[in-house]
Amino acid sequence: MRYLADIQRYGRDVVDRAYTIRCYIWLAIAVIVIVLFNICQVSPLFYVRRLYIPALDKSLNSSTNASIIFDLSFINREILSNVYYDPVNVTFYDSPNQNHSIANFTIPEFTVKQSEYKAFKSTEEVKSGVVNTTGLDFEAAKREIAANGFKVFHVSVETSVRHDYYVFWKTKRYVYKRGKDVKIGDTGAANLGKDIFVWFRVTLVGLVVMFLSADIYF
Ligand SMILES: *[C@@H]1O[C@H](CO)[C@@H](O)[C@H](O)[C@H]1NC(C)=O
Ligand SMILES: *[C@@H]1O[C@H](CO)[C@@H](O)[C@H](O)[C@H]1NC(C)=O
Ligand SMILES: *[C@@H]1O[C@H](CO)[C@@H](O)[C@H](O)[C@H]1NC(C)=O
Ligand SMILES: *[C@@H]1O[C@H](CO)[C@@H](O)[C@H](O)[C@H]1NC(C)=O
Ligand SMILES: *[C@@H]1O[C@H](CO)[C@@H](O)[C@H](O)[C@H]1NC(C)=O
Ligand SMILES: *[C@@H]1O[C@H](CO)[C@@H](O)[C@H](O)[C@H]1NC(C)=O
Repeated sequence: MRYLADIQRYGRDVVDRAYTIRCYIWLAIAVIVIVLFNICQVSPLFYVRRLYIPALDKSLNSSTNASIIFDLSFINREILSNVYYDPVNVTFYDSPNQNHSIANFTIPEFTVKQSEYKAFKSTEEVKSGVVNTTGLDFEAAKREIAANGFKVFHVSVETSVRHDYYVFWKTKRYVYKRGKDVKIGDTGAANLGKDIFVWFRVTLVGLVVMFLSADIYF
């Protein structure tokens, strides 16, 4: 509609040239956005969703149970690329300064798919497992919990990851190392709050897409 009105007002040549130039500008902006989104990728997040040590659970009589039961969460906030994890080395420590490990575990390699920008939702992959501790002093841990109400453990993950890169390629492997302190109380379980995910990137992309398509259709 606006196209025809503009032709009547300014003449066909002028209007065609203006519209062509505008098309090129939008194309250039789209290319810049795509390049930026491939170069500046946000790294995936790591959370501890659950950590349960039955031996520290006051309601059980299981001080000989060496299990650590865990759910670890790996979150991809990218809308344009999957994240490929190599086998993840998980280490559990009985203090935040990580000078004494109490268990090791390896998660086999896996992929976390790109987020769905339409659903405004990051993609999360939860890896659960059970591992036996060696070298955790349960009695000392119980005393600390009785005295302070909690004991701080630490969960660290170490692996390398790759991203998709311009759809057809993958980036090189880079080292991915994260850790979280986890407070365990006398239920033997961590008291973990709900996390708020960062959605600004998907929101931004949604806006850019809306903006571009709205203008091109006019
Ligand atoms: C735990 O075991 C002790 C001794 O074996 C017993 O006295 C106590 O009642 C048990 N507690 C529970 C909750 O089973
Ligand atoms: C330790 O406790 C967990 C959870 O209560 C249970 O599933 C597991 O079988 C126990 N392991 C042993 C060796 O008792
Ligand atoms: C680890 O560090 C803490 C605090 O610095 C200390 O109390 C503890 O003895 C250390 N543990 C080991 C195994 O070195
Ligand atoms: C975990 O692995 C590290 C490095 O391989 C090792 O030094 C440590 O003793 C292991 N800890 C346990 C509890 O097996
Ligand atoms: C942990 O130890 C218990 C008892 O010794 C054993 O039955 C169980 O298979 C062990 N679990 C793992 C994951 O090694
Ligand atoms: C994970 O642990 C294995 C065995 O200890 C080791 O060979 C490998 O290099 C570790 N991977 C990372 C990323 O640290």
